[in-house]
Amino acid sequence: MSLPLSGRKLSGVLLTLLEQNHDRQPSLSGRLYRAIRTAIVDGTLHAGDRLPSTRALASDLGVSRSTAEGAYAQLEEEGYLERSTGSGSFVSCASTVRSSLRRKSALPQAAPETLLSSRGQRIARMGGCVDALEVRAFSAGMPALDSFPAAIWQRLLARHARHAPQRWMMYGDRQGLPQLREVIAQYLSLSRGVDCDAGQVLVLTSSQQALTLIAMMMLDAGDHIWLEDPGYRGAQTAFSGAGAALVPVPVDGDGMRIDDALHAAPKARLAYVTPSHQYPLGMALSLPRRLQLIEWARRERAWIVEDDYDSEFHYDSRPIAAIHGLDRHQRVLYVGTFSKVLFPGIRVAYLVVPKPLVQAFVDGRSQIDGHTSPLTQAVLADFMQDGHFMAHVRRMRELYRARRNIFLEELERHLGGRLLPGAAAGGLQMSCLLPDQRHADRRVSAIAADAGIDLPLLSRLHLGPQARQGFVMGFSALAPGDIREAMKRLAAAWPR
Ligand SMILES: Cc1ncc(COP(=O)(O)O)c(C=O)c1O
Repeated sequence: MSLPLSGRKLSGVLLTLLEQNHDRQPSLSGRLYRAIRTAIVDGTLHAGDRLPSTRALASDLGVSRSTAEGAYAQLEEEGYLERSTGSGSFVSCASTVRSSLRRKSALPQAAPETLLSSRGQRIARMGGCVDALEVRAFSAGMPALDSFPAAIWQRLLARHARHAPQRWMMYGDRQGLPQLREVIAQYLSLSRGVDCDAGQVLVLTSSQQALTLIAMMMLDAGDHIWLEDPGYRGAQTAFSGAGAALVPVPVDGDGMRIDDALHAAPKARLAYVTPSHQYPLGMALSLPRRLQLIEWARRERAWIVEDDYDSEFHYDSRPIAAIHGLDRHQRVLYVGTFSKVLFPGIRVAYLVVPKPLVQAFVDGRSQIDGHTSPLTQAVLADFMQDGHFMAHVRRMRELYRARRNIFLEELERHLGGRLLPGAAAGGLQMSCLLPDQRHADRRVSAIAADAGIDLPLLSRLHLGPQARQGFVMGFSALAPGDIREAMKRLAAAWPR
């Protein structure tokens, strides 16, 4: 054990520490407390070391005695010091245990990956999902927040918050509020041709949660799964986190090329598709391919994850009905979200599973977060039941169609942008290919970011080697004037 510090030497150390703690603790007594605590935690003071009297310390440091007394009293209360009248103040033994614990927590210098499980390492390697925190030109997938009927929502919210408020403070149904599951099931069967009842619907916080839950409940490490390429990163991360072997499957004008998938991994356990509006390229999965997919799932006892994230918005024709309604063998797990059709902050989505899987999925979900906010669910149920939801969908379809048309005109006028066939038929964003190949997409995206414009790279959504160079551009959240202004700004910044 090292020799105790002399009173003067300790005062010098504390004076330095006092200076360092200047910003964090406004009161002098608080700063002195922190300085002494730091000296104990970093080993400058040891168990059993005697501290100067409050009078001596106050005079050494040029502070009042009550300041020193306040600091000592707090340290004693927290167990760092033991004090007794007559013999003085000592660093307590308990404080060394505490300080050794603190030292341990500061220890690991190793690369964070080595601290993680192999599953954690896979998740960290893929990176998480990053969503826009503000509306910018041309953030992808963002609804027109200023056109949401906020007054109606607030009225419903106030009504529910007033009525039996304690009910909304309790834990909620793990599967989801029955009234909400009922209206979701009705909506899905009427509008999307999904063949389900409320007992098969789970109300979740997000599609991302649905995908993570599916990965958790249906996949073992090493299972092969088919993913559209390019495709949704949220799906890539959820399934690779579970240790699945991702099989990128190219898409063409008819969506996922099922023949290619059958060739690459015929015994895959699961296929993830965005059949109404392929993310990010925009085409629909054709009927023959849907039937081919269903037949494969039946034959191989595999699963189809149908992510129907923005099918409400089709501008030139009615969307094809969901695969779920075509499948007679209960091989489809159907995922939908209110993030696009209403607003992403709502954090409500749903998953429809075959009846025999419901209980297991509810149990699995309860291990992630228990349930979705009961108050939000009640408000949403009323919003749908009272007809506000469908009215909003109809209004937004018109609004987004108009914005899409302006976006396309401006893209053509300023950048000569190129689209794949069908890419602009629906949704809240579209993939635009580079007008020329002289500039790397990363460079253009960085230049656009400097001009305040979001141009997420299409190539980042590819898993396979044949990455397209282009950008995923959103048009739905911007008023016509903002679209025109941002497109001009982008054209001015574009490298020539
Ligand atoms: C294909 C797809 N699925 C799901 C989502 C997001 O849904 P959520 O916010 O419910 O996780 C997105 C968002 O961009 C998406 O593109």
